[in-house]
Amino acid sequence: MSAEDTVSDAAGAISADRFVEISYDDVIPNNVALGADKQLQRALETWRPNYLGWWNSMGPLGYQTSDVYLRTAVGVDPAGWAKFGYVKMPAYRWGILLAPKVEGRAIPFGRHKGEPAWQEVPGEHRALLRRLIVVQGDTEPASVEQQRFLGATAPSLYDMRNLFQVNVEEGRHLWAMVYLLVKYFGKDGREEAQALLERQSGQMDNPRILGAFNERTPDWLSFFMFTFFTDRDGKMQLAALAESGFDPLSRTCRFMLTEEAHHMFVGETGVQRTIEATCAAMVKAGIKDPHDVEAVRKLGVVDLPLLQRKLNFHASVTRDLFGSEISSNAAEAFGSGIKGRFNEANLKGDDHVLTDATYPVTRVVDGKLVEEQTPALRALNARLLDDFIVDCQGGVDRWNKSIDKSGVAFRFIQPHKGFNRRIGEFGGKRISPAGEALTEDEWKAKSGEWLPNDDDMQFIASLMKPCHEPGKYTSWIAPPRVGVNNQPGDFEYVKIA
Ligand SMILES: [Fe+2]
Ligand SMILES: [Fe+2]
Repeated sequence: MSAEDTVSDAAGAISADRFVEISYDDVIPNNVALGADKQLQRALETWRPNYLGWWNSMGPLGYQTSDVYLRTAVGVDPAGWAKFGYVKMPAYRWGILLAPKVEGRAIPFGRHKGEPAWQEVPGEHRALLRRLIVVQGDTEPASVEQQRFLGATAPSLYDMRNLFQVNVEEGRHLWAMVYLLVKYFGKDGREEAQALLERQSGQMDNPRILGAFNERTPDWLSFFMFTFFTDRDGKMQLAALAESGFDPLSRTCRFMLTEEAHHMFVGETGVQRTIEATCAAMVKAGIKDPHDVEAVRKLGVVDLPLLQRKLNFHASVTRDLFGSEISSNAAEAFGSGIKGRFNEANLKGDDHVLTDATYPVTRVVDGKLVEEQTPALRALNARLLDDFIVDCQGGVDRWNKSIDKSGVAFRFIQPHKGFNRRIGEFGGKRISPAGEALTEDEWKAKSGEWLPNDDDMQFIASLMKPCHEPGKYTSWIAPPRVGVNNQPGDFEYVKIA
């Protein structure tokens, strides 16, 4: 059972008393007593029309007047925090929601370990904190921009609804970061909040901060791979920030993680359903060889080797988001108690200060891959990346299981972490998916087999035909096993206006 099922089931059984937790009477729904802080309220109410202007010009293209079956947070209790209903996207109740305060919470790591968590920004770490919040905040509207054209080619209304759900929640994540900037960083924070609406994904003059958020998301396969891999980077970063000694950041990120689970569900099951459609069509047509690409493509489904190349691309581009494996900035963020490790508070076996600890980092030395013990403090990005790769493997294993079930002989493999990297230890190095260091000529001869080529992208584009009839799905994707909030198969998730 996935996290999504748990959420849906729980939300179905939601009780009325949970509704009081968040004030929906205010212009900006919140559980932070916004009405009691007039200055903050005014600042956010000033930002709101700019946000809506951004949503209308850079958010989903079309469908803004359609009724979409969306979930909206009504509480922050993980057992039942959402309700479902038809909403026109611009009327979505974007709000400010923090996980409950844990009384007596102490800073779990770094030089300040054991001291009471900060309720205000510690002056000495102000610049670092602001930077981390801005970088996180920048990714949220970026992904909405990257995905803005996808509605028109949705393979079903179910998928279209999932896309829009992800989009409105990324919008809410922007609100979450903007709240922190405006409340805790004064004039600087207000300026940063405005700049978050001005940078634009893929724009030459004023692009989004991180590379992967300036790539295009041109088709639904890219969308599913993005939500599987790149939203999972979001999960890892949020999890590390949820450990923060700055308590408002920790509480904000903890609630965002609840929403993030759905985004990865969309990605994992989207790829899974693509695989199911492919394998079913192959079995039906009696095609045994998954590498008989021509025959498979004739069936109107995506061949598995192409899916592997898409996986290779999205995995490698996303890994660059973790930054240089060895990083003094990451050491500083940890030492100062601002950003922890994945699952920090539950990690056993070290002192959470890491003064003398080491961590193995794979590096390229004299053209060979070697593992070097590195001071753990400086290897925190390497560690978060390794944790990410482990987290991805669960989904990849489930994909392989569904191929096995169909009897087709094929396995997806995550490429070596050095493959196709631009940043960090492997930046500019040529490493094969199996982890061999290559010469430039060897790379040129082989990379077309490992990364999506023009032919692949053209084929994918040719499949992107919309299917907007309730209960119907395009040829290349199987229907989901259960509907959103247990709705029946022919449910009209988007009433297209
Ligand atoms: Fe997000
Ligand atoms: Fe997300």
